[in-house]
This record gives sequence, structure tokens and C-alpha cells, in this order.
Amino acid sequence: MKIALGSDHAGYRLKEHILKHIETSPHSCKDFGVFSEDSVDYPDLAISVTAAVRSGEYDYGILICGTGIGMSIAANKNNGIRAALCGEAYSAKCAREHNDANVLTMGSRVIGPGLALDIVDQFLNTAFAGGRHSNRLQKIEKLETKDLKS
Ligand code: RB5
Repeated sequence: MKIALGSDHAGYRLKEHILKHIETSPHSCKDFGVFSEDSVDYPDLAISVTAAVRSGEYDYGILICGTGIGMSIAANKNNGIRAALCGEAYSAKCAREHNDANVLTMGSRVIGPGLALDIVDQFLNTAFAGGRHSNRLQKIEKLETKDLKS
């Protein structure tokens, strides 16, 4: 898998930890920043990483901020992105199996580095189950064109 990885300043250290881990795996990873702990606005990184996934060049995105919440909110504003905020591996498994999530978000101030790697591994190594879940995703996709809104 090709992974686009990004964080804000709060997630910088955990992002570096995840980058090193992925580099020792069969997956490839591009680091979209940030490259220091200087304060930034997390939506800027969410926009870069989700654009990379939407382009089709990358299979998955991983976004880290302090809680994972801001990255999740920002990422999910982009059509075609299904971002899942995960704090344990079971949710990461279901995010892939049920929701075909293409972006994983995590909170560096919420989980430790060991758990984060378990979550990443579970996310990257679980396939979408399809079947009944596909219909549900199609309904979510329709929300992007406002077909089911109002
Ligand atoms: C930065 O202080 C923090 O607000 C950000 O990393 C994130 O947790 C937002 O959701």
C-alpha cells in the first residue's frame, strides 16, 4: 500500500514514530509534514493528505493531531474521504472491514506510541468486507452530492 502521512505540531513526534515503523514494513509512505513542532493549523495538513488520497496516487492517509478529532473533522469534509478516528485496534479493523475507511486519524495526546502502531498495522492489513456494507457506503456517497440532504 502507498500511504500519505501527515500531522500538525501536536502529532509531530508520533508521526515520526509511525513513519519509521512503516518504512520497515512492506508498505511505502510519503511524509507530508509537518517537520517540526512549530505551531500550525491542522486543516492544512488534512487538506494535503486527503488530496493525495483523492488523486488516487495513495491508497490510504494517516493523520495525527492532539486528539485526532480536528483531523477527522477536516478530512471528512472532502468528498471521497472516509476518515476514521481510532483509539484502539478493534475500531481500526472495523473501520476498514465495514466502512472502507481510507484515512486513519489518531490523537497523539490520547494514545501511546505502542498502541498507535497496533492501530496502524490493523488498519493497513484489513480488507473491506463489501457485501451489505457497500450499500451503506453508497448512501454516504450520495450525501456528498446532497441527494439525501434537506
Ligand atoms: C492543537 O493544540 C490541537 O488543537 C490539535 O492538535 C488537535 O487536537 C485538534 O483537534
